[in-house]
Amino acid sequence: MAFAVTSSSALHSSSLSSSIEQTKAAAQFGSFQPLDRPNFRSTAVNFSLRRCSVKPLNAEPKRNDSIVPSAATLFAHAEAVEKVEVEDYEILAEELENASPLQIMDKALDKFGNDIAIAFSGAEDVALIEYAHLTGRPFRVFSLDTGRLNPETYKLFDEVEKRYNIRIEYTFPDATEVQDLVRSKGLFSFYEDGHQECCRVRKVRPLRKALKGLRAWITGQRKDQSPGTRSEIPVVQVDPVFEGMDGGVGSLVKWNPVANVKGNDVWTFLRTMNVPVNSLHAKGYVSIGCEPCTRAVLPGQHEREGRWWWEDAKAKECGLHKGNVKEENLNGHGNSTLHANGTAAAHADIFDARSVVNLSRVGIENLLRLGERKEAWVVVLYAPWCRFCQGMEGSYLELGEKLSGSGVKVAKFRADGEEKAFAQRELQLGSFPTLLFFPKHSTRPIKYPSEKRDVESLLAFVNALQ
Ligand code: ADX
Ligand code: SF4
Repeated sequence: MAFAVTSSSALHSSSLSSSIEQTKAAAQFGSFQPLDRPNFRSTAVNFSLRRCSVKPLNAEPKRNDSIVPSAATLFAHAEAVEKVEVEDYEILAEELENASPLQIMDKALDKFGNDIAIAFSGAEDVALIEYAHLTGRPFRVFSLDTGRLNPETYKLFDEVEKRYNIRIEYTFPDATEVQDLVRSKGLFSFYEDGHQECCRVRKVRPLRKALKGLRAWITGQRKDQSPGTRSEIPVVQVDPVFEGMDGGVGSLVKWNPVANVKGNDVWTFLRTMNVPVNSLHAKGYVSIGCEPCTRAVLPGQHEREGRWWWEDAKAKECGLHKGNVKEENLNGHGNSTLHANGTAAAHADIFDARSVVNLSRVGIENLLRLGERKEAWVVVLYAPWCRFCQGMEGSYLELGEKLSGSGVKVAKFRADGEEKAFAQRELQLGSFPTLLFFPKHSTRPIKYPSEKRDVESLLAFVNALQ
């Protein structure tokens, strides 16, 4: 193992027995399992970030008192600690794939001690704090205060600090950068030209700064949060994007203890443990970020549809977790297997079935031109190499069968390569797959706005429009 363990092994388990009782009680729900750690010792709590002994972040920093590093801490650690190796964490991720969030959290805190912190956003990832609390180990929590959070979120921060007797280590954006952005583009530029620039100033750069004071961080990302970008996140990984205090690639480890937990199971856990939650959840909010960029979703809508709703579905990462975003998502039509000469690698075609009409360029141009059609059409714009297209193949073929003879034709149009520019210009192609509905009595196709690609959701879309 290439990583030195820096945690003090002192376990501050004054409330340990009650934690274990609670843990056992909650173990019946969802995927939550009790932690079998018989060697918990009951020792006095002595952790600098507990409320009683917290130091202000602008105090003279001792080693790791703050997540913002000093030159001295960087130097000391560069000598003392070897860099992590990717392979170690790939193996560990496999070993922990079926572990409970509590076990993963325990492992993370044990391994990194005071050099790890939970990234807390004030949404349902208060579960992370509860898990950390249940381990009986000391833990740190940080949050990026963008200045644009909902009042309800600030209220939750306060409740969480009181409930767990901790101080959240806030990191704020650089005042001059915010000032420049707002002075030049106004307060709501993200509605005009996308959220990336504002997120970079208010979230990503502050995160980068915060992570430079750590060797590992813990996030509340889940696979089921975003089929487009999070379906493959491991429970632990060498951070693919950010650097830790030792600097350089591989100097930071990212833990995702609830990666495999379903949203419903997180909620069962939160209710069982009776922890404070953001009151916005009771108003229909699921995934919560900044106030202007978050809204409630309707029952059955995907949670990510409440974030940056005016933008293309699969680009919905603000940059905190941009390692999740593959090249093909970033540009909307890239090709992970692009040859050096720029031509696409040969991939077997998809959506091949009698129930799905294969449209040529002329075919889809005709469809665009006709104001009156005999039948309505639903068309998928796809690329055979795109894994999201591959992922929806089953449901699309089923849609074709279900709509066969119904008066709605189901079709496909391959829109990568030389058709890409046309599809972007004329067919609203953002990223693959894009689904269009051509009503019988209108020239203008309607774009499917959701990330849900199960056959019921696709059918509901078609039935609502025909
Ligand atoms: S985001 O990238 O779209 O904003 P999301 O809201 O899904 O992220 O949250 C995923 C995880 O990122 C959270 O569970 C949390 O660990 C971390 N995170 C998100 N926003 C913040 C924030 N403002 N401060 C600290 N951590 C955050
Ligand atoms: Fe800015 Fe919206 Fe990103 Fe918050 S979520 S940093 S307000 S663009």
